[in-house]
Amino acid sequence: MPESTARRTIIDPMTDSTFFQFSQFIQTELGIKMPPTKKVMLQARLHKRLWKLGLDSFDAYYEYVFSPDGREHELPQMINVVTTNKTDFFREPNHFDFLVEHVLPKMIKRHGLEKRFTLWCAGSSSGEEPYSLAMVLHNYSEQVHGFKFFILATDISTKVLDKAKLGIYDEESAEPIPVIFRQKYLLRSKERDKGLVRVSPEIRSFVRFRRLNLIKSDFGLRETVDIIFCRNVIIYFNRETQEHVINKLYHHLSPGGYLFTGHSETLNGHSVPLKAVAHTVYQKEF
Ligand SMILES: C[S@@+](CC[C@H](N)C(=O)[O-])C[C@H]1O[C@@H](n2cnc3c(N)ncnc32)[C@H](O)[C@@H]1O
Repeated sequence: MPESTARRTIIDPMTDSTFFQFSQFIQTELGIKMPPTKKVMLQARLHKRLWKLGLDSFDAYYEYVFSPDGREHELPQMINVVTTNKTDFFREPNHFDFLVEHVLPKMIKRHGLEKRFTLWCAGSSSGEEPYSLAMVLHNYSEQVHGFKFFILATDISTKVLDKAKLGIYDEESAEPIPVIFRQKYLLRSKERDKGLVRVSPEIRSFVRFRRLNLIKSDFGLRETVDIIFCRNVIIYFNRETQEHVINKLYHHLSPGGYLFTGHSETLNGHSVPLKAVAHTVYQKEF
C-alpha cells in the first residue's frame, strides 16, 4: 500500500476488541506487555501509521497489517512504532567500570589473550550502547596488548538498526561520552552548524548489527558469547517471558560468561542458574 500524502483523516478511537487483537499479537510475538492501561499509548503510536497510509480506522489498519502484503511491508513499521527505544551513550556507567576492572581481567586470566572475546548487545536500540562498549574495549586493548574483541548488536526494530549502522548522532547526545573518548572516537560533521558527530570507522568496524527477535525460538547464533548486555529490554516483558528470554540468553553464554541487565532488572526470584556477582551483573558457572 503506497504511503499517503493526503490531508489527515479523522480516525475513530480504537475499539476494545481491536485493541485486544493488537495487544495479543504484541505480547505473543514481541514479548512486550500490552495491558488495557496502554491502549491510549498504543493508539497514539499507531495513529502515525494510519495517517501515513491514509487509513481511517484501526480495524482497516489491523486488516492490512496482517494481510500478506502488510506482513511484508507494514509489520516492520508497526514494530518500529510499538517498541520503546530510549537509550544513551554510557547509560548506567558503573557497568562499564565493572567490565574493565573486574570482568575482563578475570576472563583474560582464565583464557589468556589467544582468543577473541565476543560480546552481544541484545536490544541495542540505535547503537549508543554497543558503540560505548566498543570505545571502552578499544581503549582497554591499548593498555592490554593482544586483547581482541567483537560485538554483535541486535534489535527487533529496523528503524533503530538503520540509525545504528550509520553511527551519526546529535552532538548533544554524545555528551555522556568521556571527553577523552569523544576526542579519540568521534568525527565532527564538516558542516559545523548541523551539530552532528559520527562514530569513527574503526569503532564502527568492531560492531555488527543484525535484526533479531528475542522471543523467537531460534536466535540463529552459531557460537556462544562471553558477555551479554541485555539492559532495559526485559523490563517491557511479563515475568514468564522474562524467564524464558533469560534462560535462552543463558544457553548462549560461554561457561563463566557474564550477563549484564538494566539497573531495575534484577533476576532475584527468577529460576535461572546464574550467580549474582554485582548489582545486575550475573555469571554462568564454569
Ligand atoms: C529501551 S531500549 C534499551 C536499549 C539499550 N539496551 C539501553 O539500555 O540503553 C529497548 C530495546 O529493546 C528492543 N526490543 C524490544 N522487544 C524486543 C524483542 N522481542 N526482541 C529484540 N529486541 C527487542 C526495542 O526495540 C528497543 O530498542
